[in-house]
Amino acid sequence: MAHAAAAALALLVFFCAQARDAAVHVVDAAATLSQGQSLGATDKLVSAGGTFELAFFTPTGGDPSRRYLGVMYAQSTEQTVPWVANRDVPVSAGSAYSATVTAAGELQVLEGDRVVWRTDNSATTTSPGTAGGEQAANVTLTVLDTGNLQLAAGDGGPVIWQSFDHPADTFLPGMSITLDRRGGGAVRRTLFTSWRSPADPGTGDFTLGQDPLGSAQLYIWQTTGGQNTTYWRSGQWANTNFVGVPWRSLYVYGFKLNGDPNNGSGVMSYVFNTYNSSEYRFMLHSNGTETCYMLLATGDWETVWSQPTIPCQAYNMCGANAQCAAAADGGQAVCTCLTGFEPRNVSEYSNGNWTQGCVRSSPLPCGGEPNVSGAGAGAGVGVGFADLPGVKLPNFAAWGSTVGDAAACEQSCLGNCSCGAYSYSTGTGCLTWGQDLLDIYRFPDGEGYDLQIKVPAYLLETGSKRRRWTTVVVAVVVAVAVLAGCGLLLWKCRRRIKEKLGIVVGSEETKATQPSLLPLREARQDFSGPKQTDQEEAEGGKKFELPIFSLETVAAATGDFSADNKLGEGGFGHVYKGRLPGAEEVAVKRLSRGSVQGMEEFKNEVILIAKLQHRNLVKLLGCCIQGEEKILVYEYMPNKSLDGFLFDPARRGLLDWKTRFHIIEGIARGLLYLHRDSRLRVVHRDLKASNILLDHDMIPKISDFGMARIFGGDQNQVNTNRVVGTLGYMSPEYAMEGLFSVRSDVYSFGILILEIVSGQKNSSFHHMEGSLNIVGYAWQLWNADRGERLIDPAILPACSVREALRCVHMALLCVQDHACDRPDIPYVVMALGSDSSVLPMPKPPTFTLQCTSSSDRDGIFPDKVDESYSACDLTVTMLHGR
Ligand SMILES: *[C@@H]1O[C@H](CO)[C@@H](O)[C@H](O)[C@H]1NC(C)=O
Ligand SMILES: *[C@@H]1O[C@H](CO)[C@@H](O)[C@H](O)[C@H]1NC(C)=O
Ligand SMILES: *[C@@H]1O[C@H](CO)[C@@H](O)[C@H](O)[C@H]1NC(C)=O
Ligand SMILES: *[C@@H]1O[C@H](CO)[C@@H](O)[C@H](O)[C@H]1NC(C)=O
Ligand SMILES: *[C@@H]1O[C@H](CO)[C@@H](O)[C@H](O)[C@H]1NC(C)=O
Ligand SMILES: *[C@@H]1O[C@H](CO)[C@@H](O)[C@H](O)[C@H]1NC(C)=O
Ligand SMILES: *[C@@H]1O[C@H](CO)[C@@H](O)[C@H](O)[C@H]1NC(C)=O
Ligand SMILES: *[C@@H]1O[C@H](CO)[C@@H](O)[C@H](O)[C@H]1NC(C)=O
Ligand SMILES: *[C@@H]1O[C@H](CO)[C@@H](O)[C@H](O)[C@H]1NC(C)=O
Repeated sequence: MAHAAAAALALLVFFCAQARDAAVHVVDAAATLSQGQSLGATDKLVSAGGTFELAFFTPTGGDPSRRYLGVMYAQSTEQTVPWVANRDVPVSAGSAYSATVTAAGELQVLEGDRVVWRTDNSATTTSPGTAGGEQAANVTLTVLDTGNLQLAAGDGGPVIWQSFDHPADTFLPGMSITLDRRGGGAVRRTLFTSWRSPADPGTGDFTLGQDPLGSAQLYIWQTTGGQNTTYWRSGQWANTNFVGVPWRSLYVYGFKLNGDPNNGSGVMSYVFNTYNSSEYRFMLHSNGTETCYMLLATGDWETVWSQPTIPCQAYNMCGANAQCAAAADGGQAVCTCLTGFEPRNVSEYSNGNWTQGCVRSSPLPCGGEPNVSGAGAGAGVGVGFADLPGVKLPNFAAWGSTVGDAAACEQSCLGNCSCGAYSYSTGTGCLTWGQDLLDIYRFPDGEGYDLQIKVPAYLLETGSKRRRWTTVVVAVVVAVAVLAGCGLLLWKCRRRIKEKLGIVVGSEETKATQPSLLPLREARQDFSGPKQTDQEEAEGGKKFELPIFSLETVAAATGDFSADNKLGEGGFGHVYKGRLPGAEEVAVKRLSRGSVQGMEEFKNEVILIAKLQHRNLVKLLGCCIQGEEKILVYEYMPNKSLDGFLFDPARRGLLDWKTRFHIIEGIARGLLYLHRDSRLRVVHRDLKASNILLDHDMIPKISDFGMARIFGGDQNQVNTNRVVGTLGYMSPEYAMEGLFSVRSDVYSFGILILEIVSGQKNSSFHHMEGSLNIVGYAWQLWNADRGERLIDPAILPACSVREALRCVHMALLCVQDHACDRPDIPYVVMALGSDSSVLPMPKPPTFTLQCTSSSDRDGIFPDKVDESYSACDLTVTMLHGR
């Protein structure tokens, strides 16, 4: 130890002494290496922000005599190497080894004078203008904060070579996984190759890349002893997630597919652009497992998801036409033939080897086959579809992007004798399969997609008759309930207007409701195995520590809650700007006293909400609980809230259409995270322009998420008349019934889109054009084909009218009167993200107009209608089931 320190000191002295000479070695911690300089055994290049470094290393647990040049995370506690240069040709620790940028502009790893590894610039030039091979002047090597290692000509000149084009086993934000089919038969792909073992970065057995056939799936192949087999596939990309990983919308983290699977001569790329590029990585382990990790502030890595972790997730465990389900104990594969199929040869399966799969128990009546049910003629007669819900859809699907809905999809399969199954969902559109259905995994908890398997009709007959009866009964019951509900709704609406402070008792929606946020932790076994669940448990308990500030600290930070520092006030209390001792700017929310909620409950819920972390949600930094005081400390947003821009004539021009569209997209991602991907499943309930904060880069952050629940107290308690929701943003069923669900957030989001497009406050709309609110106004214009008149004149000249109109169309779908008519957020983000899919026609907004406007006019609500109001007691019901 002492020896090493002395050596380091000696080196430092040496470097200092050499510094004035023409540099041979670089001084520790520079960000770039210039031509002629070299990186020695103990040197490192560090990226500007200090997130990544380039240095020689020996893998943890590896042979210390072997040294590799690699890019490493600087802030992780364990050695984490997303990229290795000389992975198959280590240099010997005993030799004089170094890395250098040559006169020709190449990066070389040298052992003595011998070149063991080099960048082949001629083959990999990514930018035109710099031909490889010849003398290149002023080439520098830079480690970027994304982890990308770049050789560039001159300062900010064209990039000659970059490590992101030559990945090792790690997919980092900013990279892309590309399939380029422009060259006809010769496809070009990004491929990731695992290490040989955790201690050996040499080229291993597993390779990950896109399906060369263009099915928009990721595959992992295994090459052992010259045999190349498929080890895993992700499932089709369903716009926000992979079909095989349904519970994680990678989209909310900025994961996206660019390109069209149906274009056989185009480029398809998965890209991943997170806000903080050093936070996530996808790694292909040497055992073939692909894992997504998140870097915690502690420097530890948390597993976000990992596959395959159980046998059923490995490719085609059960052979064709069988489904794989995990046994409840231990997760072993349990194979069963699909409806209409039977084992090929029963004696073959006794040893648990299902590779032969299953065959149809009787042939399908189609194309000359005997018509089993005897009736009618033509394809599709005598057949029906057996529903297989909650699965990872089979491989080798044909994409039918032109087929618009489930019924048309069914027809397209029915009318095609070689179609063996279909599936329709908003994410995937219409998919059809041929006769063999491969690699079907049955998810344990009803996640996943519905597969419709074509079978002879007689197999379904008894079942469908019963189903038809059930349908009739359900329909009648629903119709009666809806009629009763409407009556009740109208009655209550009128009663509210009369009584002014009418107390509306919330009732539960059909799905599971939960009065508290507390037990909402997802029970997802295979989220990343039972181990992960334990870990999450531990986090909830002690591992996750939310900083607790003392009242003195908070008071000092805000100048004793001085009025000068006040940023605003809401129904919950006042918000102040503050500066913590570390000079960090924060927003401090001091809650009104007298909340009935217990201290433990408050703390628990705050911790749970602090765990909601997403780039489009404002971050909770800590809290303060002392006596009566309950204070929340948030990150400070320099650009304040969206309404400050949108509704200020002097500033609205600052938000051009591109920025506005990004804001809409960002809010959608934040909502998707709240509704689907966070561990809590939160319904926000108070989405509005003033709750959307903007950071330095105008990235929107939803604030106040889930807070209402915390201050609302328990459902059974008396003191429930707290602020939840804002007039003008509230869906009819929420405003009137206290009924809320994710679809009431969708409603508010629709209003928000209209406000962002028009730059007009919803509540100021009754002055305009004789129309009562923004919804009615937008509908009138849109219906009369004059939608572009809604667009804010301040941005119109440089606005993509088509994109804006699509947003208006989507908004009108979101603000439909009936919750069930509104799309869900995954659909919204999907449809906003692609301009090809056809949106359905929205229904006219009748009810909204009547109810909110009449109550406005009657003066029931305060003058400033956009302010949160507490006149109406809306019961807090947390809906999180699906
Ligand atoms: C190389 O860099 C040096 C110093 O920055 C500059 O003087 C010189 O003009 C550059 N040469 C070329 C060819 O860009
Ligand atoms: C294995 O086969 C697949 C499918 O043909 C191919 O795309 C992949 O590149 C092969 N992997 C290796 C390592 O050869
Ligand atoms: C397919 O992709 C290529 C290359 O990007 C493009 O030139 C072509 O127009 C696309 N074809 C269609 C039908 O979209
Ligand atoms: C593969 O390796 C990773 C990392 O060491 C480990 O977490 C995972 O459980 C392993 N998977 C299998 C199937 O062995
Ligand atoms: C990005 O994440 C890392 C690890 O959590 C953190 O140290 C760093 O400060 C973050 N950077 C930004 C800009 O948030
Ligand atoms: C079924 O498998 C057994 C064992 O492999 C074999 O002996 C038998 O001939 C097979 N039967 C048929 C009908 O293929
Ligand atoms: C399963 O059966 C197939 C063919 O019937 C054979 O090739 C394969 O080796 C068997 N696998 C195991 C694990 O027995
Ligand atoms: C089955 O339907 C086809 C369709 O037209 C018809 O031509 C054929 O005669 C039918 N076969 C039997 C056995 O009924
Ligand atoms: C019929 O279905 C098969 C399998 O999905 C598909 O490959 C084929 O293109 C379809 N044929 C027509 C005419 O749609």
